[in-house]
Amino acid sequence: MNTNKNAVAAAQLTVGGKTLDLPVFEGTRGERSLDISVLRRETGLVTYDPGLVNTGICTSDISFVDGEKGLVLHRGYNIEDLAEHCMFLEVAYLLIMGKLPTLEEQKSFTNLMNEHSMIHEDMQHFFRNYPEHAHPMAVLSAMVVSLSSFYPQLDTESVTERIDNTVTRLLSKIRTLAAFSYKKFIGEPFVYPSYKLRYCENFLNMMFYSPVRDYIIDPLVERALNLFLILHSDHEQNCSTTVVRTVGSSGANLYASISAGICALWGPLHGGANQAVIEMLQNIYENGASVKNVIEDAKRKDSKIRLMGFGHRVYKTYDPRARLAKKACRELLGHLGMRKDPLLELAVELEEAALQDSYFQEKNLYPNVDYYTGIAYRAMGIPTNMFTVVFAIGRLPGWIAQWIENTRDMEQKIMRPRQIYTGSPQKPFVFTKDR
Ligand code: SDX
Repeated sequence: MNTNKNAVAAAQLTVGGKTLDLPVFEGTRGERSLDISVLRRETGLVTYDPGLVNTGICTSDISFVDGEKGLVLHRGYNIEDLAEHCMFLEVAYLLIMGKLPTLEEQKSFTNLMNEHSMIHEDMQHFFRNYPEHAHPMAVLSAMVVSLSSFYPQLDTESVTERIDNTVTRLLSKIRTLAAFSYKKFIGEPFVYPSYKLRYCENFLNMMFYSPVRDYIIDPLVERALNLFLILHSDHEQNCSTTVVRTVGSSGANLYASISAGICALWGPLHGGANQAVIEMLQNIYENGASVKNVIEDAKRKDSKIRLMGFGHRVYKTYDPRARLAKKACRELLGHLGMRKDPLLELAVELEEAALQDSYFQEKNLYPNVDYYTGIAYRAMGIPTNMFTVVFAIGRLPGWIAQWIENTRDMEQKIMRPRQIYTGSPQKPFVFTKDR
């Protein structure tokens, strides 16, 4: 990361008759930041920025998102090129190791994936004794943090020594944990990973193979899944990535940090939106609601209803990942003979209506990465409650890369924001008899 930040300008802040020069730094793409690290010490002031809308928490070399231009870079490569030319494991390697792998590096990375694809047999007890209809995101988070009980933890001191093992162990096993949570949910026997299968093939096989029915892996489904995982692989300091950094900043191990990130991703305002989009579309379709009314409801302040899969903190234009997801979704459903899928048709109609509506135009609300992905996952046979689990599998390399970067960043320290206290003034204690 850019530890020797070069100040390009200075801003002046005058408080209580004292003027403070605050340096302004510029990132690779020209974005500028005001360094306020001395603010409280020099002025006694803290900043107030709910949701950290205006606050940069770190420098980072990993990804860059231009919300005005609709650009996503991962280690300098744009998402369109990576989606077209790479498999997911190549992008995972790029994010974590900082460069695209050579053929040799790809082979050893794939071998490590294979070596680490099984989970300890004792973990099956956890799955079997988990409540029957537990949400797979709850199971995934619990199982990931449980890995720290079976495997050496990657703590902040040893991040360089054991990175290969711990990182590839997690990248590989998350598929197995996810598929086992699905098999548990439907009451079918667990399917073990196979050394004969590639990363996404293995996941699909563990999800859908069964002793009583064969499962032929469709190469186009595998290709589509690779693309969707790439689209989710990293996205700057989103909510769950910030959680992973925050937990890691306390010195907690990688498994604990990722488990916390999975919980943050679960929320419907974040990764849980892909499940919420399908539930919204199904609700509209089954109840015969009109697109016009849905749009009007989403605009009403008091309705609390939102057009799920629309809007974004950073994008003020079309999310480039949504554009790629929409194209891949159409191609996949066409290949699977579902060109007339009613939910896809409804999603397109809803999108067109929203994009022509002045409310959505004025607020710069466009489809985000979650809008079309659920329709594709559904076509693959992935159940709705597993959509955010698939998002987590895709985001894992980004979380890992960001956790390592935070651990190695000498400017970082344990995250501990300040607050503005608005509670009661100090008061004398009241004993029970006087309350
Ligand atoms: C992801 O950060 C990332 O990078 C996340 C992510 C990643 O890769 O990690 O891209 C993945 O989480 C995508 C977002 C998935 N969530 C959804 O699709 C849920 C629906 N979207 C919204 O809840 C909302 O757009 C957020 C949460 C995504 C962003 O919220 P913000 O930035 O806090 O914006 P806001 O809630 O302040 O909204 C600004 C205005 C408000 O109206 P006013 O109060 O100004 O009158 O826009 C309105 C909002 O009511 N608005 C919407 C809307 N999204 C925002 N109105 C209707 N429908 C929507 N979807």
